[in-house]
Amino acid sequence: MSKPRNTAAVMDRARPLDRQQAHEIQAFGHTTRMPIALSQNVAKQSVENLNQVLADTCTLRDLYKKHHWQVAGATFYQLHLLFDKHYEEQNDLVDQLAERIQSLGGVSIAMAPDVAETTIIPRPPKGREEVPVQISRLLHGHEIVLKEARSMARQAAEAGDDGTNDLLISDIIRGNEKQVWFLSQHLVDVPLVKAD
Ligand SMILES: [Fe+2]
Repeated sequence: MSKPRNTAAVMDRARPLDRQQAHEIQAFGHTTRMPIALSQNVAKQSVENLNQVLADTCTLRDLYKKHHWQVAGATFYQLHLLFDKHYEEQNDLVDQLAERIQSLGGVSIAMAPDVAETTIIPRPPKGREEVPVQISRLLHGHEIVLKEARSMARQAAEAGDDGTNDLLISDIIRGNEKQVWFLSQHLVDVPLVKAD
């Protein structure tokens, strides 16, 4: 025979336990030990480096969306599409970087104010800019990421963190270099209709 049920108690069990608060389970900047055969020091250094690339990649990603929305001129449609394609690719890199940081036992940067505090890519104006300025701004952002990623990849290789080295080379460096190629060709001043 089933127990008699107190209706109020049953109703209470169905109530979502929202507005809960507690201490963080891991502070930002603290790296917890993961069973991945890497020393704590190596993991900690990689986490620090990856959080910098993450902040800069978030910024570059958002710069692409800004330009996707604000682009103007005769090349509007192709650039509108290209900027969004690169945005999606950068967004994928953001996810890979953040998940690598968590895999190493770190805490990844996530929110816009934390990204703004950390990134070294200069803040663009809120208003709209001409296409050559938009592209120059993006190229500068890519170059900042490429420069730091190359030195961090070498550092990770020397420390034996092959996973971080591979992510930086295969995804960050190769991906950014390819986007730079696509972008930079829009700043080559060749005639549209009549050859020189
Ligand atoms: Fe869109």
